Amino acid sequence: MQVFEIADQEWFPQSLRSYMQAALTAAWTTHIPLLQSSSPARIVAHLLSHHFGPSIHNYTFIDFCAGGGGPTPSIEKHLNASITTTTTTKTPSYAEAATAPPPVQFILTDLHPHTNLWSAAAAASPNVSFIPTSVDATNVPQHIIQDQKRNGKKVFRLFNLAFHHFDDNLARKILKNTLETSDGFGIFELQDRSPAGFLACCLFGLGAMVMAPYYAWLWGAPLALVWTYLVPALPAVLVFDGWMSSLRTRTVGEVKELMGSCGVDAKEVRGWEVKSGRERFIPGVGYVNWIIVTRKGSQE
Ligand SMILES: C[S@@+](CC[C@H](N)C(=O)[O-])C[C@H]1O[C@@H](n2cnc3c(N)ncnc32)[C@H](O)[C@@H]1O
Repeated sequence: MQVFEIADQEWFPQSLRSYMQAALTAAWTTHIPLLQSSSPARIVAHLLSHHFGPSIHNYTFIDFCAGGGGPTPSIEKHLNASITTTTTTKTPSYAEAATAPPPVQFILTDLHPHTNLWSAAAAASPNVSFIPTSVDATNVPQHIIQDQKRNGKKVFRLFNLAFHHFDDNLARKILKNTLETSDGFGIFELQDRSPAGFLACCLFGLGAMVMAPYYAWLWGAPLALVWTYLVPALPAVLVFDGWMSSLRTRTVGEVKELMGSCGVDAKEVRGWEVKSGRERFIPGVGYVNWIIVTRKGSQE
C-alpha cells in the first residue's frame, strides 16, 4: 500500500492514531438531529437491506479492512433491527419466531487485527464476530470463505472508508481475490473528489473541535483535549488526511476499469452487476458514496 496519509506514517504517535480511528467511527455512527437525516452507518444498513431484500439472509458480511471496527457493528445493529421491524408488524407467535430467519452475521478482519476493540464489539452483539489473526484482503485464507459456504452462506465483502487507501496494483489484487472467491462487495466512502467532498473534510475537523469535550468525557480520554486544543494535531490531520482520501477516492467507472484489468477473465467480469450512488446525510456536504457489486442472479 502506498502511504499518502499522515496517520499511516510509522512515526505517527499511536495515541493520536487511536483518537483518529475513534473520530472516524464517530463520524460513521453519529446522528445529530436537525443537522443529519441519519447516521452514515444507518444509511449503509438501509442500502444493503434495500439492495438484497429477503435474500440478505443468504449472506455473511465480512469487513476486510475493519481497522478499529469502524461502522460495521453499527451497520449490523441497524440492519438486523430493520429486518426484524419490517418483517414483523406485531409480536411474533412462538411458531413465527421459530421459523424466522436468524439475524445476519458480520465478521471483522484486517491485515492488522485490533482484537481488543473488536472483542468489545463482539461482546455487545451476538451477530458480530472477528478473526483474531491477520487477514490479507489480496489473499484471503480459503477456510474463511469455506466456513461460510459450508453453512450455506454467500460472502459479501465490506470496504468501509478503506478502498481509496489502495494503489491500483493492490486494488486489482484485492478485486481479483474478491471476484474469484466471494459473491459480492461494497465500497462505502464518506468523501469524494467534488468540492463538497473537500468541504465535508473541513467540517469534519471543525466538528472534531466542537465535539472534543463530549468525546473526551465519553472515552475517558482527557489527552484528546490536548491533541485538539493545545496541539491541534487531531483536527489538522483529520482535515489533511480527509483531503488526501478525497483525491484518491475512485469513481464507479474507475472501479469497473480495475475489475476489467484485475486478471479475471472478461466473460467472468461481465457476470457481475455494478450499482452505485450517493446518499446525503448532511444537506449540501455530507454524502455516503457507495458502490455495490454482486454476481448477476445471486439474489434469487
Ligand atoms: C482507514 S483504515 C479502515 C477504517 C475503517 N474501516 C473505518 O471505517 O473506520 C484501512 C484499514 O485497511 C487495512 N489494510 C491495509 N491493507 C490491507 C490488506 N491488504 N488486507 C486487509 N486489510 C488491509 C489497514 O490495516 C487499515 O486498518
